[in-house]
Amino acid sequence: MRLDKWITSQVAISRKDLKKKLKTSPAIVNGEKISDPGFQVAEGDEVIFEGERIGKTGFVYYLFHKPKGVVCAAEDARSETVFSIVPQSPKKDLFTVGRLDKDTEGLLLITNDGALSHAMLSPRRHVAKTYFLKTKDPIPKEAVLLFEEGVDIGDEKKTLPARLEILEDQKSALLTITEGRYHQVKRMMEKAGSPLYYLKRISMGEFVLEETLPLGAYRTLREDELELVKKYKGDTV
Ligand code: URA
Repeated sequence: MRLDKWITSQVAISRKDLKKKLKTSPAIVNGEKISDPGFQVAEGDEVIFEGERIGKTGFVYYLFHKPKGVVCAAEDARSETVFSIVPQSPKKDLFTVGRLDKDTEGLLLITNDGALSHAMLSPRRHVAKTYFLKTKDPIPKEAVLLFEEGVDIGDEKKTLPARLEILEDQKSALLTITEGRYHQVKRMMEKAGSPLYYLKRISMGEFVLEETLPLGAYRTLREDELELVKKYKGDTV
């Protein structure tokens, strides 16, 4: 198959734009730099384009800065979905790694790699997720200990120990949790007597939302992040 066809079948770029792009940032096929869009790629070849490995595995990874109002669903009759911004793959196999509520902003991984998703979300792995949050009223200091010890939010079990760092204005904080219960942060903050009005996920495991990625923008994972993918999956990608 032609290199341009191979790449455009999995990455959101037109063949025309790809042709231009390859001149300045060639694809790497089996370790060799290739700028010719007509180069023939064979089954089993490894193709890397802009740091994304799309050869041997066919896996696609995006990091998305989700804005408010967008839902993490394949389709939704009323709301804009993540996939009206991040292009679904031709195979329609991309999904979000976990979910953020409609009114939550922040880091969302999007992939077709079920093993990565499992590794990030498995309750046994306790992958840390850090949120920046804002409340109308000052957050009581007792919330720090409450969250450290685990809090009853109406589920069968208390939450696992979580770290709350109240920021200087007392009405914003960083909260790190290692579970992914339904509306967990909202429910924890309500329990602490400080309902939220703003929530943003800033990291998930070692994947971090950089300040330079604008709200609503997405990008493919960098080489160092693809190494993290390997690490979380515990195998080779
Ligand atoms: N906790 C919440 O309450 N909402 C989110 O979107 C994520 C974590």
